[in-house]
Amino acid sequence: STVDWEESSYDTGGHAHFLLKEIHEQPTSVERTLSGRVDERFSTAHLGGLNMDAREARAFTRVKILGCGSAYYSGELGAQLIEELARIPAHAEPASEFRYRNPVIEADTLYIAVSQSGETYDTLAAVQEIKRKGGRVLGVVNTVGSAIARECDGGMYLHAGPEISVASTKAFTSTSIAFALIALHLGRVRDLSPADGRRICAGLKAIPDQIREILAQEKEIAELAGKYADHPGMMFVGRVRGWPVAREGAQKLKEVSYVHAEAYPASELKHGPLALIGPDLPTVAVVPDDELLEKNLTTLGEIRARRGPVLMVGHTRPDPKLAEDAILVPRNEPELDPILLGIPLQLFAYYAAVALERDVDKPRNLAKSVTVE
Ligand code: AGP
Repeated sequence: STVDWEESSYDTGGHAHFLLKEIHEQPTSVERTLSGRVDERFSTAHLGGLNMDAREARAFTRVKILGCGSAYYSGELGAQLIEELARIPAHAEPASEFRYRNPVIEADTLYIAVSQSGETYDTLAAVQEIKRKGGRVLGVVNTVGSAIARECDGGMYLHAGPEISVASTKAFTSTSIAFALIALHLGRVRDLSPADGRRICAGLKAIPDQIREILAQEKEIAELAGKYADHPGMMFVGRVRGWPVAREGAQKLKEVSYVHAEAYPASELKHGPLALIGPDLPTVAVVPDDELLEKNLTTLGEIRARRGPVLMVGHTRPDPKLAEDAILVPRNEPELDPILLGIPLQLFAYYAAVALERDVDKPRNLAKSVTVE
């Protein structure tokens, strides 16, 4: 199905920038991605566009996700969701690397290409290479009728609406939602119980209102962004579920504010980057309330012991000794929490860029879609 976009999609609708408008659109863009796809009766997801019956959906032994930049990071989040809910080994790789390394294409691997524009050349080349070698590839794409969408064997449109700002926000979030639906669908033809399916269906339906709650904290997030934007660089850390969120948070900050941002798995800090930590390098720590909470709090203690400032993004206010600042987001289901934890980091990057008077919607050296090699 397709949706016609009114002309209002192409003006800032009273917002200072497209980026801010698109961040604020997310409750409704997520509703559109979910629309007609959550099947509460059978606790699964309806995804007719995958063109795959249950027998085929059970036959894959591996999932490989390909995309570039933020599309790749959302693929990392998607790979975790698929492993958690469907228990299929899943892995994301930059399409730009994959296409240059003569990849082994396996018949029992499900390939998924991710692209907002549907025109990214590296991703298209990866899809063509898979097809040339007989692999099956699905597309998770925003732009209807785009080159990647046409090349794939099936897939899902995001229906997030036109994304104008160079930095991706609503498409990233909708891609993550699409992966949650795919993971639910693949899970329910395998071993995900009806009760867990119900839990995920309810969690997905709660996300738009929870995004509204996060966006209501805009003023506080803007103040924090102003406070941290003066630093020459920032570290972003997360463990397992928090790790793709940290990567995307760092990407957003460097793209629009030009502040150097480095993302590391929290567990890797002690293997090298801890040497960088000190009063000049603040850390944004993505800390879901999951079974790794204690481990993450220990990491914060290690950063604070070296006098590194910490801004924690999580669900519960931390001991001020561990993080001087915090942004709190509502809890959903543990598997879906990463989607919500990413939202405040978009506002953080936006307001850091505004504080530094950057060209927010058209950052230097970047194009909205990279249609060349
Ligand atoms: C996102 O903020 C970036 N501008 C960039 O990484 C982008 O996600 C990437 O180039 C892929 O674009 P696509 O989703 O249109 O394929």
